[in-house]
Amino acid sequence: MKNLLSLETLAASDMRSILDRVAGFKSARTTHARPLTGQTWALIFSKSSTRTRVSFEVGLRELGAEVLFLNANDIQLGRGEPIKDTARVMGRMIHGAVIRTFAQKDVADFAQFSGIPTINALTDDEHPCQILTDIFTFEEKTGRRIEGSVVTFVGDAACNVPASWIFAAAKLGFELRLAAPRAYWPSPEILARAGAGATADWTKRPDSTTERMTAGIGTIVLMTDLKLAAKQADLLYTDVWVSMGKEAEAAQRIAELTGYQINAGLIQCAKPGVAVMHCLPAYRGKEIDDATFEAHADLIFTQAENRLHTQKAIVDWMVA
Ligand code: CP
Ligand code: NVA
Repeated sequence: MKNLLSLETLAASDMRSILDRVAGFKSARTTHARPLTGQTWALIFSKSSTRTRVSFEVGLRELGAEVLFLNANDIQLGRGEPIKDTARVMGRMIHGAVIRTFAQKDVADFAQFSGIPTINALTDDEHPCQILTDIFTFEEKTGRRIEGSVVTFVGDAACNVPASWIFAAAKLGFELRLAAPRAYWPSPEILARAGAGATADWTKRPDSTTERMTAGIGTIVLMTDLKLAAKQADLLYTDVWVSMGKEAEAAQRIAELTGYQINAGLIQCAKPGVAVMHCLPAYRGKEIDDATFEAHADLIFTQAENRLHTQKAIVDWMVA
């Protein structure tokens, strides 16, 4: 039985096996096979969602399943029933689960104790479905594989979305530049887990403004200078400055991340025709300005649509 708990634990060959399926689901949306016919899957969400919820509800139905959406606060989990007990109940009744929550351990525990295919639909640590979608979208737009490309992430480089990008870069082999103030660089622990070895601990070099390291077959570059980070980039990518669960830090984050924005000036530094993507929701005037967002809206909303097709490919890979 397969799970999708993180990109850290997903082999490169499995990433490719998923990515290779997506175009087929996209082009044959209404005529593809329905491998989940007769099954019931549950979405168990402890955080808000528009794209992930809708794309999984629609996608699982189009694959033949019945779908339950369970807000974690509406079930006993929200009153303190342990995740392992919730998992053991669900595992006896349903066929698969899609979980959005805070702790990565909760998704891992659910998978272990339920014994049914389990998908991480975002935790504090990772957002694997998003980054698989983003890679598909980049490759669909450019017509070439992401291997060897330069991806520049701008903003809070210490949250879940850049963490999944780090593991993808290390496994597939591209250069990921993370442009952020040092306080928002990813932890040495995550970099070490991605294979960055002795170079991972950038905190030992308190004055450095650029840290370049090999991780797996990829390259990770931590940078404070976002214009340098954007130089010759193939993809400029951003995410919110205030992730879910960090609302109490909103004012401080906005103050400290101001300037780490995708805008026309930054696009000038990148490769001509650079792809601009955003996982959404977007906060205009913060991580991206309105004119740049609207100029790239077609790709950004194709990226959002591709959540549907990519997640069907993930589920198909899991149950194959
Ligand atoms: N990008 C993303 O996961 O969006 P939602 O939070 O709306 O699901
Ligand atoms: N980093 C963001 C991603 C939203 C899709 C968050 O966790 O809120």
